[in-house]
Amino acid sequence: MSHPSWRDAWHAALYAPGGFFARGERPAGHFRTSALVGPELAEALVEMLARIDHALGGPPRLDVVDMGAGGGELAGMMRELAGAQLGRRLHVTAVELVPPAPMEGVRWSPSLPDEMVGLLIGHEWLDSVPCEVMMVREARTVRVHVDRAGNEYPGDVVSCRWQRRWWPLCSEGDRAEVGESRDVAWAAAVSRVRAGAALAIDYGHTRADRPRHGTLTGYRRGRQVPPVPDGSCDLTAHVAFDSCALAAPTDGTVLTTQRAALAALGLPSGAPAAALAASDPLGWLATTARVGRVAELRDPAGLGGYGWLLQTTAGLSPRGLLSCGLPSVT
Ligand SMILES: C[S@@+](CC[C@H](N)C(=O)[O-])C[C@H]1O[C@@H](n2cnc3c(N)ncnc32)[C@H](O)[C@@H]1O
Repeated sequence: MSHPSWRDAWHAALYAPGGFFARGERPAGHFRTSALVGPELAEALVEMLARIDHALGGPPRLDVVDMGAGGGELAGMMRELAGAQLGRRLHVTAVELVPPAPMEGVRWSPSLPDEMVGLLIGHEWLDSVPCEVMMVREARTVRVHVDRAGNEYPGDVVSCRWQRRWWPLCSEGDRAEVGESRDVAWAAAVSRVRAGAALAIDYGHTRADRPRHGTLTGYRRGRQVPPVPDGSCDLTAHVAFDSCALAAPTDGTVLTTQRAALAALGLPSGAPAAALAASDPLGWLATTARVGRVAELRDPAGLGGYGWLLQTTAGLSPRGLLSCGLPSVT
């Protein structure tokens, strides 16, 4: 087969020299993520960080590591919001292939630190880790190959343990995105957390609701486009959260939705009192805009439906970190 498999083509399109992310394209120019909506996601994550800090007894150094940080909007905002409270104990690292302009208080790195204490975040990172694609063709499961124009070619018949276990294919035309590469990437990232928590926020699925025909797609300048691996667009596919969770053995795991997580972290969602409009019109406007942003982050049909996979080290309960009260230490 002269054409590359999807994983190789996808990798080249995003990360080879001149590729979409390798040449410094930023999500802000192409698609909307929760990190770009406003400061509210950072606020919620700073609350989670405070709970981790409390549960760890206030360690001398507390890390926030944002893996696949894009333009650094989330890392920069978390630094701003948590800096006053945590002072010199706070160390924020943004991991990105092509760092943008320097940001106060944020260290940019092309790779993860060897070890950290605090909160590791992969916000829409795993969906951009390339995968193989497999499909059923003439009753056999084959690997899918692709050319730079996006034309697909059924390739070898393959037996893939990951696919059989996590994404069984039944009928002609069924497709799976093989999440093994995400499992490996996630497990390697989580292994850097000596104490604290790792959080993947992404669109995803579990065995109970795998999409029959996969989710591979492209984004360019605000539009969803066909997935063409020529470096002209982002390429993305939803994350198999259940296999990622099992690949990274930690003490505690919870998988929930962004909508539920934001509520558990105390992000208010109610509309401002009507009386405020008369007594403080600017305050009313600001609060109304904030309520709109929170509603976008909580929308069950949109960003609110994103998965939050939270995994913790010994002594920290992920449910405690996502409860409405004080952190619970197990
Ligand atoms: C979908 S974007 C999300 C960016 C940002 N987290 C956000 O939500 O706006 C994925 C980002 O992960 C980065 N990325 C993917 N693999 C990476 C790696 N191994 N090391 C560093 N950055 C990586 C890409 O360059 C890209 O900027």
